[in-house]
Amino acid sequence: MSRALKELEQDGLRYMLNFPLLPDRASTLSVHVDALYFFLVALTLVFSVGIALAIVILAIRYRRERQPKPVPIEGSLVLELTWTIIPLGITMVIFIWAAAIYFYETRPPRGAMEIYAVGKQWMWKFEHVEGQREINTLHVPIGRDVRMIMTSQDVIHSFFVPAFRTKADVLPGRYTSVWFRPTKTGRYHLFCAEYCGTQHSGMIGEVVVMEAADYQQWAQSGTDGSLASAGEKNFQQYGCAMCHRSDTQGRGPNIVALYGKPVLLDDGRTVLADETYIRESIMNPGAKIASGFKNIMPTFEGQISEDEMVALVAYVKALGNGMANPPAPVANPDTGVYPVTPNKEPSMVAPNQPKPAPSQPKQK
Ligand code: CUA
Repeated sequence: MSRALKELEQDGLRYMLNFPLLPDRASTLSVHVDALYFFLVALTLVFSVGIALAIVILAIRYRRERQPKPVPIEGSLVLELTWTIIPLGITMVIFIWAAAIYFYETRPPRGAMEIYAVGKQWMWKFEHVEGQREINTLHVPIGRDVRMIMTSQDVIHSFFVPAFRTKADVLPGRYTSVWFRPTKTGRYHLFCAEYCGTQHSGMIGEVVVMEAADYQQWAQSGTDGSLASAGEKNFQQYGCAMCHRSDTQGRGPNIVALYGKPVLLDDGRTVLADETYIRESIMNPGAKIASGFKNIMPTFEGQISEDEMVALVAYVKALGNGMANPPAPVANPDTGVYPVTPNKEPSMVAPNQPKPAPSQPKQK
C-alpha cells in the first residue's frame, strides 16, 4: 500500500473516531440540559425496548394456531388507573425538571456583565459596554455570568450557542435576554437558529471564551470610549437633552436613576423601566406616558439605528439603576480575579459623567 493511501486511511480512522454525539459542554447550563436530555433518552429506550419485547413475546405466545379465541375484557379500573398515574408521574418529573432549567436559563444572576447583540440579515453585531464592537465573533470571559441583551434590525433571528446549550429568539422591536456562564476556554460555534432568509445558513459565527485577564485586556484595547459615552453623544445629537434634563425644568421625565425602577404612567399603570421600555419610549413615545407629562415627544422611529439605540439604552442605564443589574466589576488585570463586593448601592453616574447635584429634586 502506498504511503499516501496509508495516511489517508489513518486520517479516515481518526475522523471516524472523532465523532462527537454532543457539542462541548462549555457553560454551567450545559450540564443541566444534558442531564435532562439523557434522562429523556433513557426513558425512551426503556419504553421502546419494553414495547418491542412485548410485541415479540406476545406474538410468539399467542400465535393463532395454538390459542383459542380470546375473551373480550369489559374494563379494569386497576389497569386504567395504573396506565394513567404512572405516565402522569413521569411527565410531571419531566415538566418540573425542564421548568427548573428554564427558570435558571431565563433569570440572569445579579451583577451579570452585559453584552448587546443586534441581529440583521445576515450577521451578528455585538457591542460590549467597554466600547468594543465585533461582527460574527463574540468574546466572553470564562467564569463570569454574561447576559445578552438582543434585538433585531429586520426579521426574527435566533441566538444559538450549542456548546452553552443557549438559544433565544431575537426579535425586531424589543429586547430579549439570555444569560450563560462559560466554564471552558475555547472557540465555539454560534448559529442563527431561525430561518431568516436566503443567507440564513450563512449567519454563523464564533464565540471565543477567554481567560478573565485576557478578556479584560481585549475589552479595553483600542476602543474610542465606552458604549455609554457613545450613547451620551447620541443623546446630545438627537436633542434629547433639551427636554430630558437632570433638573425639574425639563418637559420630559428626568432619566437619571431611571433604569430598573417602576414608572407610574398617566393611566395609573406602573411599568418597569427596563431596556424594552426605554427603547419603546424613544421609538413610540406615546405608548406609555409617564405620569405628570404630556404626550409631546416626537417619535424617532426610522431615525435611530439599532446600534445607536443600544448605545442610548446603555447610556440611560449608566445614569444609574435600581439594582436590577449593578455595573459589572472590573477584574484585577494581573490576577484576572474579580473583587467580591457586598451588595451596595451602585454609583449613580457613569465614569465619564459629570456628577448630578447631590440633592436631586424629585420629578412630579
Ligand atoms: Cu438569522 Cu437565520
